[in-house]
Amino acid sequence: MLGLAQRVVFCALLGSVYASCPQRCECSEAAHTVKCVSRDLRSVPTGIPGYTRNLFITGNQIRRIGPECFKGLDNVTNLSLSNNRISEVESHTFAGLRSLRSLDLSNNQLAVVHPEAFTVQNQSLRDLNLSRALYNHSSVTDLATSLRWSSLGMLRGLDLSHNGLIYLPSHIFSHLGSLQRLQLSNNSLVAIHNSTFSGLDALLELDLSLNSLKTMGEEGLRELDSLPRAHLLLGENPFTCTCGIEPFALWLNRSQGRVSDARGLVCAFPASMRNTSMLAAGTLTLGCHRSGAGADLALQTSYVFLGIVLGFVGLIFLFVLYLNRKGIKKRINDLRDACREVWEGYHYRFEIDSDPRLSQVCTSADA
Ligand SMILES: *[C@@H]1O[C@H](CO)[C@@H](O)[C@H](O)[C@H]1NC(C)=O
Ligand SMILES: *[C@@H]1O[C@H](CO)[C@@H](O)[C@H](O)[C@H]1NC(C)=O
Ligand SMILES: *[C@@H]1O[C@H](CO)[C@@H](O)[C@H](O)[C@H]1NC(C)=O
Ligand SMILES: *[C@@H]1O[C@H](CO)[C@@H](O)[C@H](O)[C@H]1NC(C)=O
Ligand SMILES: *[C@@H]1O[C@H](CO)[C@@H](O)[C@H](O)[C@H]1NC(C)=O
Ligand SMILES: *[C@@H]1O[C@H](CO)[C@@H](O)[C@H](O)[C@H]1NC(C)=O
Ligand SMILES: *[C@@H]1O[C@H](CO)[C@@H](O)[C@H](O)[C@H]1NC(C)=O
Ligand SMILES: *[C@@H]1O[C@H](CO)[C@@H](O)[C@H](O)[C@H]1NC(C)=O
Ligand SMILES: *[C@@H]1O[C@H](CO)[C@@H](O)[C@H](O)[C@H]1NC(C)=O
Repeated sequence: MLGLAQRVVFCALLGSVYASCPQRCECSEAAHTVKCVSRDLRSVPTGIPGYTRNLFITGNQIRRIGPECFKGLDNVTNLSLSNNRISEVESHTFAGLRSLRSLDLSNNQLAVVHPEAFTVQNQSLRDLNLSRALYNHSSVTDLATSLRWSSLGMLRGLDLSHNGLIYLPSHIFSHLGSLQRLQLSNNSLVAIHNSTFSGLDALLELDLSLNSLKTMGEEGLRELDSLPRAHLLLGENPFTCTCGIEPFALWLNRSQGRVSDARGLVCAFPASMRNTSMLAAGTLTLGCHRSGAGADLALQTSYVFLGIVLGFVGLIFLFVLYLNRKGIKKRINDLRDACREVWEGYHYRFEIDSDPRLSQVCTSADA
């Protein structure tokens, strides 16, 4: 009886702790939602109720987050920390959020991201939003390490848009084998290299719009072809329609089925080609074949030039020979004498070798 009473009191206490709502937050038990929005918070508040499934701590002044911030929040599936000033995420910060499926860190200033920053127990994380989240391009190295070490094998969506990324380290996504959607729009990517997208075997959507791609080289095309199921967006890039663009234009014509905005892609440079459809750029004469003929001509010219130079060198050589004719004659005589001596020596030895008596003497001497 007493035990039961104690338990009831304990549960009531526990209930009151859980039912309470942190200062400056709004809690709705019915909606399993807690919101602490634009309240000038400097850190993640304590006392967030255990029923919480959707947790929004946005528009505050939080700078650093670590594992101590999110204890006992087993039921949180959606966590948004967007629009803070978070610059550092420690390893295992979210590890205790064992139901976490969606993590939004967009609009922050991540400069230091520890290797296991995004590890979540049970690999439950499905969506990670890092849109406009990196402080500058330098953070991409940390990011690549933590994408590798955070056990994100079940991640489905990754948003890396608006981050000023200049290049992607090779194999950056190679541990994201379940990723289906990858947003890379509004960065400053200038090229796609070997292994940029390796490991993305499940990818269905890749957004590369609003970058700095002037063309797509052989490596890039091969890399995009390695994602056969992915639909691509390539709009708003400064495509430059000079000779080198032809393979890309032909590839585009071939791949219209999966480049969702292929029909809208236009040349940005040179000025004379602006707004020309990229699909048409493959058929237009960009002066490539003419410049090919020019290259042939240049080759011929260089052969002629080489011939003239060789002829000139030959003439000089003959002239030198002529000037040295006496010395040369003497040398030739010397050489002839030397040859004769060698020849006679050889002849003599041959006669000895072919004399059976002498050879017998030799072998018997050996024996
Ligand atoms: C999570 O939710 C379940 C079911 O709604 C509840 O039984 C459990 O106590 C909650 N967890 C916490 C830590 O409150
Ligand atoms: C929670 O995240 C999922 C994606 O994982 C999303 O579909 C859902 O709308 C989110 N819910 C809320 C309340 O934000
Ligand atoms: C891990 O995830 C699986 C399915 O995703 C779920 O059935 C299981 O209960 C989870 N385990 C824990 C400890 O959350
Ligand atoms: C990520 O967050 C930004 C801004 O908060 C939002 O506009 C965008 O839709 C989100 N991305 C995804 C994939 O939900
Ligand atoms: C990024 O910011 C850090 C710290 O201010 C600075 O040291 C680094 O040079 C910056 N990197 C780039 C690419 O601007
Ligand atoms: C692209 O990102 C920059 C900042 O990184 C932002 O100022 C600009 O508005 C973005 N452009 C679009 C179209 O979203
Ligand atoms: C890219 O791969 C191709 C063949 O797969 C190879 O010939 C080329 O050298 C590679 N380029 C780089 C920069 O590794
Ligand atoms: C290109 O097209 C855009 C919109 O379709 C238009 O505003 C612009 O004037 C065009 N530029 C040229 C050089 O035709
Ligand atoms: C584009 O592809 C179509 C067939 O899909 C073909 O008829 C056309 O000639 C191609 N255009 C170019 C420029 O290769």
